[in-house]
Amino acid sequence: MKKLQETASVLEHEPVARQTFRLRLHSPGIARSATAGQFAMIQVREGVDPLLRRPLSFHRLFPGEGCIEFLYRVVGRGTWWLSRVRPGETVDLLGPLGNGFDVQDSAAYPVALIAGGIGIAPLFQLVSRLLVTPLERERPEIHLFYGARTASELLPDHFLQSLGISSHVSTDDGTGGFHGRVTDMFQRAVGKETGEPRRVFACGPLAMQFHVARWVLARGIESQLSLEALMACGVGACLGCALPAVSHHGRSAERYVHVCKDGPIFRAEAIQWTKVQAHPAPPPSFLYS
Ligand SMILES: Cc1cc2nc3c(=O)[nH]c(=O)nc-3n(C[C@H](O)[C@H](O)[C@H](O)COP(=O)(O)OP(=O)(O)OC[C@H]3O[C@@H](n4cnc5c(N)ncnc54)[C@H](O)[C@@H]3O)c2cc1C
Ligand code: FES
Repeated sequence: MKKLQETASVLEHEPVARQTFRLRLHSPGIARSATAGQFAMIQVREGVDPLLRRPLSFHRLFPGEGCIEFLYRVVGRGTWWLSRVRPGETVDLLGPLGNGFDVQDSAAYPVALIAGGIGIAPLFQLVSRLLVTPLERERPEIHLFYGARTASELLPDHFLQSLGISSHVSTDDGTGGFHGRVTDMFQRAVGKETGEPRRVFACGPLAMQFHVARWVLARGIESQLSLEALMACGVGACLGCALPAVSHHGRSAERYVHVCKDGPIFRAEAIQWTKVQAHPAPPPSFLYS
């Protein structure tokens, strides 16, 4: 698919949860060609500091209106600069990048979506894709499992209600919904509140994906996991976003996939989870104040 570099005008930009923003842009070329699960590299500030673009997944796509939306969390300098952009200003985008979710045949299966924190962002567009069917009876049964560290980091209820699917919410500290990790909530619910899914889509930190991968692999359930890596270029040039992959040529041969060009969506079977290291802890909280 052709990548575009587009100067997008900012239409709306609003805080929606603690340090979390929704950004709506007019970017007609990218809006027309992007699909759920793909991402764009966004230039967060003119000039050389920060020099590198930052990857953000498409939260919602409106090809008819030529608009795209991102949902992002401020974690460091790049996203902090981005949070200061105002309606009427412009940002430079490179995209769409990556492979996107494969939703073929999903109507036939009960589907589980698992989101950790801001990993909820691309699942909105995925739900829209999954529900694109004129007949109610052809729609898949979809359950969303969404967890955050604390209630102030959860998206407001009306965001989840707008999805029109069943949502299960957790917080690590018990301030909202189920008290515990999203993967614990998911495992408890399956078999009691919901049936066993035949397909799992997940987006969130690598530590969460590790648990999701172990669960689906143990049961032979099909999965599509949106994985994170630090990205400098986003287009396969710097090789900085490598993750250890399962080798098809014997155990000794090391093989890597690159999240930006082979992903960011991978089946759990593709990754050597025992060799994946979680990213370092977020920066100090003074950046957020
Ligand atoms: C394909 C892809 C899609 C993404 N989509 C979204 C999205 O829709 N919304 C959103 O809020 N974030 C998303 N991210 C993460 C986002 O790109 C980073 O949070 C952002 O680049 C951080 O930039 P910064 O300058 O603010 O922070 P930095 O100062 O660069 O880093 C601050 C902290 O965040 C960590 N970090 C930086 N980049 C990443 C990363 N890529 N993955 C995990 N940890 C990282 C660093 O290790 C550091 O601890 C996505 C990442 C990828 C790879
Ligand atoms: S980010 Fe440069 S190769 Fe993936």
